[in-house]
Amino acid sequence: MCGIVGVTGSDPALPFLLDGLSRLEYRGYDSSGVALVDSDRVWVRRRAGKLAELTGAVGDAPRATAGIGHTRWATHGGPTEHNAHPHTDCTGALALVHNGIIENHLELGDELVSAGHELRSETDSEVLAHLIEAGMAGGAGLADATRAALARVEGSFAVAVVHAANPEVIVAGRRSSPLVAGRADGSGFVASDIPALLAATREVYVLDDDQIVEVGPGTLRVTTLDGTEVSPVRRRVEGDVETAEKGGYPDFMLKEIHEQPRAVRETLRGRTKGDRLTLGELELSDQELRDVDKVFIVGCGTSFHAGMVARHAIEHWARLPTEIEVASEFRYRDPVLDAQSLVVGVSQSGESLDTMEACRFARSATNKAKVLVVCNVVDSSMAREADAVLYTRAGPERGVAATKTHVAQIVAMELLALRLAHVRGLLYPEEVARQVEALHSLPTLIDGVLARSEEICDAATSYVDTRDFFFLGRGVGYPVALEGALKLKEISYARAEAYPAGEMKHGPIALIEPGTVVVAVATRGRLHAKIMNNIDEVKARGATVVVVANEGDDAAANHADRVLWVPAVPRGAELFSPLVDVVALQLFAYAIAKARGCDVDQPRNLAKTVTVE
Ligand code: AGP
Repeated sequence: MCGIVGVTGSDPALPFLLDGLSRLEYRGYDSSGVALVDSDRVWVRRRAGKLAELTGAVGDAPRATAGIGHTRWATHGGPTEHNAHPHTDCTGALALVHNGIIENHLELGDELVSAGHELRSETDSEVLAHLIEAGMAGGAGLADATRAALARVEGSFAVAVVHAANPEVIVAGRRSSPLVAGRADGSGFVASDIPALLAATREVYVLDDDQIVEVGPGTLRVTTLDGTEVSPVRRRVEGDVETAEKGGYPDFMLKEIHEQPRAVRETLRGRTKGDRLTLGELELSDQELRDVDKVFIVGCGTSFHAGMVARHAIEHWARLPTEIEVASEFRYRDPVLDAQSLVVGVSQSGESLDTMEACRFARSATNKAKVLVVCNVVDSSMAREADAVLYTRAGPERGVAATKTHVAQIVAMELLALRLAHVRGLLYPEEVARQVEALHSLPTLIDGVLARSEEICDAATSYVDTRDFFFLGRGVGYPVALEGALKLKEISYARAEAYPAGEMKHGPIALIEPGTVVVAVATRGRLHAKIMNNIDEVKARGATVVVVANEGDDAAANHADRVLWVPAVPRGAELFSPLVDVVALQLFAYAIAKARGCDVDQPRNLAKTVTVE
């Protein structure tokens, strides 16, 4: 996720661009840059690091009335200055910023290099600058050449382009990645998100997929990729910047819960084609993956729970012995590690000290294990130190309670499990392709849960005054129960304990009394009948039972007092059910916390990233 901003008709343009970038920094902040249209050339300045690095380096910028800016969150190519945007074409007359992933950039790059273009970065984005250059060299205007270039892209994009030949115009377009355009007297704007424009205008238009906009000083023209003119939809903009950053949601947590279909889509994007899995940045060869004889997963909190789901997937598909341990305990026992061990460190931030130290311990000269880090922040400390990285692409998460990064972690590790199985020759290509197809159905299934938000939240508010909750699950439902309990504890301060449902009868069932609420993850799977028995056991002792069940599962409904309905995952893809089921429990916790008047974005006593032991 990156941030884009552009302005024309603003004298000077630079302060607006820098201010806009600061408001978009939440979308990514590993490098940034600006391009200003300066008579017959485009002046570009880029810097690695936070925006402050760029702000301190633009003292010699020309006075210009039009320009574009970008704050980056790397996906292809490290967060270095030469990979930072804007990218220029070979002539230096065109500058372009991009957010998204161009899946066919290698093919397009080869074609451009054969035609004599020089690509200077490792990004997927730069090819677009040269494709547009090629179109313009063939006689097309900036807008037509941009349209033609974007029509060739497979993947997602929001782009903005300026060219010295059209000094007052910004051409921008989008598919899947967000982009808005705005207008005021004598000036025009584009941005990834409304907050970047608020200081200048409230006349904001939202572009649809495959539309491009030509913005001039006080003018705005929207067309489809085939050139048909369309009337843009004006967006009603109210409130202050923070309200706008929340995108119409009352808090970041709810916004991020709703961003989960996108987080899954982005984490999958470009990594699957039929039975082929391309985990580009993995940096472990097939032979190294084949040599692995044992996997250890380490993480904390929500990341640990994602790892628990992954253990099921790795053992089931790749048939590798897999241990999972909370990171803060791992290095204080004597795990049996060697060069054939693969340690997977899971961390949203890539900075949690417990997980970082566990990974360091695993890679130490004594233990010699290979360390693969699954994390959401490009170039985080853990990512830099690891042998290999698999990035989740959930975008920056502002709520302290992790939500969208959790589902992205599960997706990334399920891909890893399939890849391990594939290189070990344990899954037929058709089976890999079938699982991949199921993975791609998840965003729609998660949307199905989100469509039921109101009824889930209504159900939850019946339990606002409940003191004790138990969360139960079996198989991959157990980590979902743990995560549901953690969300509820973190944001509502209710007491919530999670157990494997079959374990209740060995002790914890003594705590059940009338008024205790038991939330059971009871979606279909091979342990469905068994969890129904466990539900009956607690019900017989007076518990009120809420189940997460698949739509149409009347049997589950008959065992429960309330049902949180969720769509079923495709048959044979039960290992993906946590990605759907957990969303219902996030909403359940959210509704209770809100009804209790809690601050869900910044719960008491917690920090987003814990960098102490
Ligand atoms: C999740 O809601 C938490 N706030 C917390 O458990 C978190 O998952 C944990 O601290 C690990 O953080 P990390 O993923 O950044 O390493």
